[in-house]
Amino acid sequence: MKRVITYGTFDLLHYGHINLLRRAKEQGDYLIVVLSTDEFNWNEKQKKCYFSYEKRKQLLEAIRYVDLVIPEENWDQKVSDVKSYHIDTFVMGDDWSGKFDFIQEETDAEVIYLARTPEISTSQIKKDLESGKIKG
Ligand code: CTP
Repeated sequence: MKRVITYGTFDLLHYGHINLLRRAKEQGDYLIVVLSTDEFNWNEKQKKCYFSYEKRKQLLEAIRYVDLVIPEENWDQKVSDVKSYHIDTFVMGDDWSGKFDFIQEETDAEVIYLARTPEISTSQIKKDLESGKIKG
């Protein structure tokens, strides 16, 4: 069984996230999503989520491409996650292109960057809602 892992915040789940998860799952048979905790987002990225970790986890678990959701609590857990979950493929969106190549050197996993879906992001949704702009 080929095991795939990916990381993210996945707040205000949108179709860009679904596209990413679908293509991540296509890389193998079992997809693990490592989901940033609220503390990690706040302490390390100064980002506040609209949905709590538990709600974001529930949403991800309802997606057919996702087999397991575990917490992301620090920047340094990736290599140990890849090793302890026996990961074959590490997937990230190409906004991270090149940033995780070291995982390929430190583990047996292949690192793949998938093209982001254009014109949608959680930040954009938040901005549009703040400015009263409703997309139709
Ligand atoms: N992603 C994607 N296409 C988009 C938005 C996100 O492929 N349009 C991918 C990211 O590259 C990442 C994963 O989805 O691999 C989770 O991204 P996340 O940062 O949680 O979502 P964003 O919508 O990019 O959120 P933000 O605007 O807060 O960065």
